[in-house]
Amino acid sequence: MSHRPHQPAHDPAQDVSPYAEALSDFAARGRARFTTPGHQADAAAQPLLAEWLGYPALDLDVQPTVEGIDHGPDNAMDRTLDLAAAAWGSRRTWFLTNGSSQGNLTACLALAGLGGTIVAQRSVHSSVVDGLMLSGLVAEFVAPNIDHALGIAHGVTADSLDAALTATPDAVAAYVVTPSYFGACSDVAALAEVAHAHGAALVVDEAWGAHLGFHPALPTNAVRLGADLVIASMHKLGGSLGQTALLHLGHSDYAARLEPLVTRALRSMQSTSESALLLASLDLARRQLAAHGEVSIGRSLDAVARLRSRLASDGRFQDATPFVSAFPDVVDIDPLHVVIETRSGGITGHEARALLFAEHGQHVEMSTDDVIVLIVGAGVVHDMEAFADALLALPSSDTARHRHIELPDAGQRRMTVREAWFAPSEVVPSSEAVGRVSADSVAAYPPGIPNLMPGEVITEATLAFLRDTAASPNGWIRGALAEDLSLVRVVVEP
Ligand SMILES: Cc1ncc(COP(=O)(O)O)c(C=O)c1O
Repeated sequence: MSHRPHQPAHDPAQDVSPYAEALSDFAARGRARFTTPGHQADAAAQPLLAEWLGYPALDLDVQPTVEGIDHGPDNAMDRTLDLAAAAWGSRRTWFLTNGSSQGNLTACLALAGLGGTIVAQRSVHSSVVDGLMLSGLVAEFVAPNIDHALGIAHGVTADSLDAALTATPDAVAAYVVTPSYFGACSDVAALAEVAHAHGAALVVDEAWGAHLGFHPALPTNAVRLGADLVIASMHKLGGSLGQTALLHLGHSDYAARLEPLVTRALRSMQSTSESALLLASLDLARRQLAAHGEVSIGRSLDAVARLRSRLASDGRFQDATPFVSAFPDVVDIDPLHVVIETRSGGITGHEARALLFAEHGQHVEMSTDDVIVLIVGAGVVHDMEAFADALLALPSSDTARHRHIELPDAGQRRMTVREAWFAPSEVVPSSEAVGRVSADSVAAYPPGIPNLMPGEVITEATLAFLRDTAASPNGWIRGALAEDLSLVRVVVEP
């Protein structure tokens, strides 16, 4: 387990929300609004919206650049961002209203300002691939550890990052993902040390870890472990509204060099009309985590422990966390991701997820062929007995026990992401695509990790995996030209 630098999880100074309070104050004054948003908080003009969403939400949906709220000296947003930086231990934190996807696009654009090449974990999210395509940054990929038994990708070790950076001496940054979708945390402190020894910044996609550090039983967040730029989806487990995320800057000289680039890149990746409701939800969720997280997350952890112990005593389904922890890159685990191996219990993960949803009212975050993954939002206390009852009532079959879809290795890279994306391309039947170079990013979703990236040679194994995933209950392939993956966009090579 990694060491856990001190992070106050119950800080009374954090028990304020300046931006949200400034919006409430603005609404309370009842000024006539001749501004955007054009609903102008008028329930008579927008009765449908006011009734559906609730009138207070319209009233608080205030346009940006209002003096005192997010504009001018000592404005509420500046105070809010300072509180966020203190809560996560960053040099500086920005709020994002288009998810970690926006954070990854911003990071890629900023890194392109440092130089042309990075080393990136192959299992980055598709938004990083989009960032490469838009920025022209070239990535040399380092393979994560793959758990072939469960069909899931973990992280990279410091040794494999060291080898990749040695092979890529001009890399300006290393780009890793931790925690994984399965709660597996890499050794960020060691990765930062290795990256810095090679003269590279460490960027961490911590989309799944915005809540880390706000309870002593949780792993420490990446910025406190020495990462230089960190992207975190606050909406995932941190409690804010959908689409909200955070971008943190670390404390090293690398971070200092990145700061002006990130500031400029963010401006290009941001709406000029960010939603006040989304921003306020970040302010309020930060307050909840930093001032009350220790108590509320403690309740979530207790509930998760009850579920794990029920699974252990029943014995049909296995808590997969011990298997995940056995990988050399995994130095810590976020217990709020519950990974349950279902296949040896006689049902595939995809089938279990579909039946839990359709017949038992239980909506599980994601599945692979082998596992289902539950995520428990910070502070949420579920009825774990009801969930376990539903899970244990699922049917079982021997076919499921013996079925296994292998997670394919990445195909050989022949062009950069950007070269392949902009190259002349054609759409071909997938039966004719093997051996050709993909022009698109194609990913089983969730998790949204591209199985095919622009520039990679298409293999039969990758197509078979994507086809099987598409045919599974709830299977969805992001970037597919046809739902059954019968068509693929490939580069026309000269
Ligand atoms: C590792 C990782 N990074 C980035 C993202 C994108 O996050 P968002 O949905 O907040 O844009 C995801 C989404 O699942 C993800 O898993």
